[in-house]
Amino acid sequence: MFRQPLHDRGVISRYRTYLPVSEATPVVSLNEGSTPLIHCAKLSAKVGRGCEVYLKYEGLNPTGSFKDRGMTMAISKAAEAGKRAVICASTGNTSAAAAAYATRAGMDCVVLLPAGKISAGKLAQAYVYGAKVVAIEGNFDDALDLVRKIGEREEFAVVNSINPHRIEGQKTAAFEIVEELGDAPDIHILPVGNAGNITAYWKGYQEYAALGKSRRQPRMAGFQAAGSAPIFYNQVVEHPETVATAIRIGNPASWEQARAAIRESGGAIDIVSDAEIMEAQAWLAGQEGIFVEPGSAASVAGLLKCLDCGREPCASCPVRGVAEGSTIVLTVTGHGLKDIEAPLKYRSFAPRQSANQVEAVLQALGY
Ligand code: F0G
Repeated sequence: MFRQPLHDRGVISRYRTYLPVSEATPVVSLNEGSTPLIHCAKLSAKVGRGCEVYLKYEGLNPTGSFKDRGMTMAISKAAEAGKRAVICASTGNTSAAAAAYATRAGMDCVVLLPAGKISAGKLAQAYVYGAKVVAIEGNFDDALDLVRKIGEREEFAVVNSINPHRIEGQKTAAFEIVEELGDAPDIHILPVGNAGNITAYWKGYQEYAALGKSRRQPRMAGFQAAGSAPIFYNQVVEHPETVATAIRIGNPASWEQARAAIRESGGAIDIVSDAEIMEAQAWLAGQEGIFVEPGSAASVAGLLKCLDCGREPCASCPVRGVAEGSTIVLTVTGHGLKDIEAPLKYRSFAPRQSANQVEAVLQALGY
């Protein structure tokens, strides 16, 4: 009998009452969740008016992204259903999480990825965790279409966010935020790709409000990359492009649910350019010490863009009419180390050259 570590608190054991699990569900967990909610003094100062800004740092999950919250549920339920294999399409993070959790459950994992559009770190994760990797000539949306078809075969469980168990697991991030703040924030900002996460957060906030655990519900503000912004433009993007490959999606599966979350919460959907995304990534790492991948930096880029816009508050602005002393939470969805190619391509980071001598090093440093 192994000893159960004291900190063994994955999202299913922590939130069992609020999730569709039973004694019959074998819990497949890597102790995901319980990620830090980090107060950002410099970002708060930028917003001003006594507002406080916090980052929900989902990059600190076991495979480096928020996907682990949904995957513990999807894989546990697949195991309960007796499935031997799972399949997903991915821009890289879902596949990393699926591969890790499937391996833990002793299942095969098949991942369909858009060829040439996955960061090396994420691709390495899929391989190292033991997935069967297929590169598709096409984008994420094409890969998801294939998964829907192949997933009809009896042996597979589909573990994309079209699987409702994924949304159930991911809603726990909203629970954690409410518990930590003592209430829901006034505004919640997050990047939007396939739109599962904004759907999940809104579900979580609504459920906790209905249970009396929070008094308010936040305005949900989603940001898409300008070249991959179907919800913002209200039309499918056939050839989505962005440096933020995680959210390079032209036809999101949870489009309608995202719209509902934005409408019901009085929120907004807006876009950020690749340049704004990369600047926000650099700003956050350089000012707050938090390194997130480009897809995650879209939320920070969105807040910074709205602060700097200088126009009359526009309909899509998440900080419009923000009341004094508001609480703003941004989800940063994946760790910066997931995709090191993007920042290295965007900026040159050349080391100072020096001889192997104390004096030479000090001179190279300018001391
Ligand atoms: N941020 C990161 C780092 C992501 O990997 C994703 C989605 C999102 C944001 C957007 O979340 O799809 O729920 O709106 N990545 C998926 C994947 C598509 O395959 O890893 P969403």
